Amino acid sequence: MTLRVGAADKALAERLAVPFDPDAEFVLEYRQGRLQLRDLRDGAPSPLFVDFASHEIDRRRTAGRQLPVARAVGIKPDFTPSILDATIGLGRDAYTLHALGCAVTGVERSPVIAALLEDGLQRAGADLPLLVGDSCDVMARLKPDERPQVVYLDPMFPERRKSAGVKKEMQYMQAILGDDDLLPLFEAALSCATRRVVVKRPVNAPYVVESPKPNHTFAGKTVRFDVYLTTR
Ligand SMILES: C[S@@+](CC[C@H](N)C(=O)[O-])C[C@H]1O[C@@H](n2cnc3c(N)ncnc32)[C@H](O)[C@@H]1O
Repeated sequence: MTLRVGAADKALAERLAVPFDPDAEFVLEYRQGRLQLRDLRDGAPSPLFVDFASHEIDRRRTAGRQLPVARAVGIKPDFTPSILDATIGLGRDAYTLHALGCAVTGVERSPVIAALLEDGLQRAGADLPLLVGDSCDVMARLKPDERPQVVYLDPMFPERRKSAGVKKEMQYMQAILGDDDLLPLFEAALSCATRRVVVKRPVNAPYVVESPKPNHTFAGKTVRFDVYLTTR
């Protein structure tokens, strides 16, 4: 069951196209110059907001091209692909790839998550276009010359990473979003990407489909990146 999300004031509700509902379980509000989502229920974690200056993002930027995600999308000293992040969420992976020089466009189906991300991107001064809607529709509508080289997919899966920040994020996201339907996204991505589709999975999870099998896999400690080449 997903819970209600409302904006704390009418102007914000209108601007973000979310209901004005200060008594909802989750409230979107501006505090200390940033947009945040606050869980008003007893025992809730601290508010959720996007901060691209955080330690974890710095660590990833420093690790650079050696990161499994960077190798999976095919970054080379002389090549940075164009990427459509079709499940951008709060944008950690997208921002890392953008910081490594890739032209990244993101798609997010939840207007609430998209609003939090847009606010974080603005504060970071990042040039990372964000579309709000269903990626399957977005990918189906792209003309051949608009297709990205890489489509990146990171659907939600339970209990995956242990760091406190990520745990809080997942608690919020699982409460306000329904399950992700990976199969249609994967099929749309295979028809859209001109070079490869990258799927992030828990390290021990089965492949998205029995066939085709990934052409390559890059594993980290808790997650792995399955690469499906689509070069045509
Ligand atoms: C696990 S999160 C992605 C986390 C992200 N990779 C990061 O680094 O922060 C998955 C996100 O994909 C979004 N999503 C799932 N299916 C989608 C679809 N068909 N179109 C657009 N967004 C979708 C969900 O709303 C959720 O915000």
